[in-house]
Amino acid sequence: MSKQIQPVRGMNDVLPAEIGAWQHLERVARGVFEAYGYAELRVPIVEHTELFKRSIGEYTDIVEKEMYTFQDLGGDSLTLRPEATAGIARAAISNGMLRGARHKLWCLGPMFRHERPQKGRYRQFYQFDLEALGFPGPDVDIELIALTVRLWQALQLKRVRLTINSLGTPEARASYRERLQAYFRSHESGLDEDSRRRLEGNPLRILDSKQPAMRALIEGAPLLSDYLDPESQAHFAALRAGLDALGVAYEVNPRLVRGLDYYSRTVFEWVTDALGAQDAVCSGGRYDGLITQLGGEPTAAIGFAMGVERVVELLLQAGSLPPAATPEIYIVANGERAEREALRLAEQLRDALPGRGVLLNLGGGNFKTQFRRADRSGARLALILGDSELDRGVAAVKPLRREDGQTDCPLSELPARIASLL
Ligand code: HAM
Repeated sequence: MSKQIQPVRGMNDVLPAEIGAWQHLERVARGVFEAYGYAELRVPIVEHTELFKRSIGEYTDIVEKEMYTFQDLGGDSLTLRPEATAGIARAAISNGMLRGARHKLWCLGPMFRHERPQKGRYRQFYQFDLEALGFPGPDVDIELIALTVRLWQALQLKRVRLTINSLGTPEARASYRERLQAYFRSHESGLDEDSRRRLEGNPLRILDSKQPAMRALIEGAPLLSDYLDPESQAHFAALRAGLDALGVAYEVNPRLVRGLDYYSRTVFEWVTDALGAQDAVCSGGRYDGLITQLGGEPTAAIGFAMGVERVVELLLQAGSLPPAATPEIYIVANGERAEREALRLAEQLRDALPGRGVLLNLGGGNFKTQFRRADRSGARLALILGDSELDRGVAAVKPLRREDGQTDCPLSELPARIASLL
C-alpha cells in the first residue's frame, strides 16, 4: 500500500456527522442576517498581500507571522485571506459600490492563519462576516449588536457575554500611543521580546499580550478611555445608552484593543466560558478610516466576524440542535428483475413525494443484509420488492419503527399509502 497522505495541520474535515450543526447554524444565521437587511456576497479567498498589510497592519500578529503568503506563477505576492473585512472593503471599492451609497453585506467562508493549532484555534477556520458600509453610527453599532443578541437567542445559546470598548479616533489614539510608549519605555526591562519589538511600531499591541509575565505591567498602563476625544466619548455614550434601552447586557472592558489595526471608536467581543482558552466567538468594531486607506472615498463602516467552529462547538455542548434528517423510505429489492424495477420505482416516488428521502438498496444482498441497512439508515418505512410482489403488481410496505405488520399495496397506490403512513 502507498503511504497515506496526511491532512494539513490545523485544517479540518467537516464530516457528515457534524454537518447538521453547521447547516443549522447557517440556516438560522442567514435568516437573522436577512431580517436586518444584510445581503450575501462572495469574495475571493486569495488577495494581493499588500491588501492585508495595509489594512490589518504591519505590526499585528496576523501580518507579522500568520499569513499564508506565496508567489504565484506570474510573480505576484498573494495571500490566503486571514479575515474577510479587507477583502470586502476592497470589493466595495473595486466594484464602485460606494459613492455615497450604503451597503449591509455578509459572507461566509474559510480564513487562513498560521497559528499554533489547539482546540478552537485552527489554521483554516470559517467565519460569518458582516459589514455595514456607509453608516457612521452609533445607531448601526447598536443594531449590529442587537443582531448578534437575536442570533444567540435563535440558536438558544446562553453562555456568551458581551464586552465593549471605544478606541477613539486615530488622532486620540496617537496621543494615547505616545503616552503608552513612554510608560512602556520606562519599564523596558520588563517587556518580553514581542512587546519590545512592538514598542516602536505599535505599542497598543502590547496590551494584547497574553504572556502572564506581562500582566502586571499591562494592568498598570494608562487607559485609552482617559484619552478619548469628545466625539468618540459621545459616540460611546450613545452606544451604551442604546444597548441599555434594548436591555442588552454588556461589560465595558477598557483593555479590549483587538488584534487588527483598522479599528476606530466602537469595538466589541462576545466571549464564552465554555470553550477554554479560545473564548472569543464573535468580534468586531468600527473601521471608519479603512476604506480611505485602501484608496476608496471616505466611508464610515462597522462589522464583525464570528468563528463558525467555535459557535458549532457551543451548539453541540448546549445540545440545542434540531434532529438530524434521515431518509424516510428504504427500498429493499431481491432478484435481478426486482432490482431493475426498484430503480424505476424509486424515481417515481421521488417525483410523487418531493422532499421525502427515498433510499434504494444498492449493491444487492440477501433480505437480512438489506433489512439491516434499512434499519441503520434510520428510514421509517421499508418497501419490499421481490418476484412474488412483482407478479402481483404490488410492493410490501413495512413500518420499521412501529410494530404494525407488513401489508401489500398496489404500485399505483404507493404514494398515497406512504403519505398516509409517514
Ligand atoms: P478576529 O477577532 O480576528 O476579527 O476574528 C473574529 C472571530 O473569528 C474570532 O472571534 C473567533 O471566533 C474567530 N477566529 C479567529 N481566529 C481563529 C482561529 N485561528 N480558529 C478559529 N476561529 C478563529 C476579524 O477577523 C475581523 N475581520 C472582524 C471584523 C469584521 N471586524 C470588522 N468587521
